[in-house]
Amino acid sequence: MSKASKNETVLIVGASGTVGSELVRLLKADGYQTRAVTSQKAKVGSGQVYANLATGEGLSAAFEGVDRAYLLSPPGYADQHKILSPLIQEAKRRGLKKVVLMTAMGANANEASPLRRAEVELEKSGLTYNIIRPNWFMQNFNTFWVQGIREQHVIALPAGTARTSFIDARDISAVAARLLVDDGLSGKAFDLTGPSAVTHAEAAAAISSATGLSVRYQDIEPKVLKDGLLSAGLPADYVEFMILIFGFLKEGYSAGLTSSVKDILGREPHSLTQYVQDYKKSWS
Ligand SMILES: NC(=O)c1ccc[n+]([C@@H]2O[C@H](COP(=O)([O-])OP(=O)(O)OC[C@H]3O[C@@H](n4cnc5c(N)ncnc54)[C@H](OP(=O)(O)O)[C@@H]3O)[C@@H](O)[C@H]2O)c1
Repeated sequence: MSKASKNETVLIVGASGTVGSELVRLLKADGYQTRAVTSQKAKVGSGQVYANLATGEGLSAAFEGVDRAYLLSPPGYADQHKILSPLIQEAKRRGLKKVVLMTAMGANANEASPLRRAEVELEKSGLTYNIIRPNWFMQNFNTFWVQGIREQHVIALPAGTARTSFIDARDISAVAARLLVDDGLSGKAFDLTGPSAVTHAEAAAAISSATGLSVRYQDIEPKVLKDGLLSAGLPADYVEFMILIFGFLKEGYSAGLTSSVKDILGREPHSLTQYVQDYKKSWS
C-alpha cells in the first residue's frame, strides 16, 4: 500500500471547522505538513492560506505546492457543485496525488443533486480520490442546536420519531486523515455512520443523563424550522436544502448503519454515550 511521505503538503478546506480542525491536528501529530484554508483574510496565520470558495479569490494560489487535498462545501451554499467544481479542477490542473471529498450520506440518491454532481466530477477527473459521506454529526448537538439545549433545555426539530445513525465528527476526521495519506483504499466512496441509530428523543435523554439537565425533544413542523433558519439569516435556497434533508431524515433514510469506520480504522466508531460524556461541558 503506498503512503504519503511526510514532506508532502496536505491542503485542508474548512480547516477551522468541526471535521477540519481535528483533521489538521491528526495530520500534524502524524508528522505531515498541513495548509489550512481560511476565508478570514485578516486573520491568516502560520500554516494557513486565504481562499474564498464563494468568490474564487485566492483559490488557485492556495493549491501552489500542494500534494493532497481535503475538500468540502461549507454550510450555507445550496449549490455545492458550484463551490466544489473549481476546487476539483484546480486539483486536476495541479496534478494532486490524492483528493478526499466530504459530501453527505444520501448525496448519491439523486444524480442531479449538486453534491452528487461534484462527486461525479471527482470520480471522472482521473484524480486518485476517496469520497466520504457522513451521516448527521453528533456534534450538531453542541453547535447548531446548542442554544436551545442550554437555554430552553429543548431540541426542537422536524425529525419525528425517526432513527439516525449519528456519527461522531472525530471519527470522520480520523477516516479523512487515513484516506488522505493511504492510497490503498483509493477510488471508493464510503458512507460513514455511528455504531447505532437513535431517535432525537433518545439523544435528548443521553444529553440529560450526562449533564443532569432535563433536556427534551420537541417535534416541530418543518415550517417552524424554516422560519427560524431564515430569521437567523441563512440564505433561502440553503434553508430549502435543510428542510429537504430533514424530510429524508424523518422518513427514515438516515437510520442505516455501515461498518466503514471500523473497516478503515480497525476500531469501532464513538458511541453517542461517549460523545455526550466528552462534550458535556458544552451544554452546562
Ligand atoms: N453537520 C452535519 O450533520 C453534516 C452531515 C453530513 C455532511 N455534512 C457536511 O459537512 C460540511 C461541513 O463540515 P464541518 O461541519 O466540518 O464544517 P464547519 O464546522 O461548518 O466549518 C465550515 C468551514 O468552512 C470555512 N468556510 C466558510 N465559508 C467559506 C468560504 N467562503 N471560503 C472558504 N472557507 C469557508 C470556515 O472557515 P473560515 O471561517 O476560517 O473560513 C469553516 O472552517 C458540509 O459540507 C456539510 O454538508 C454535515
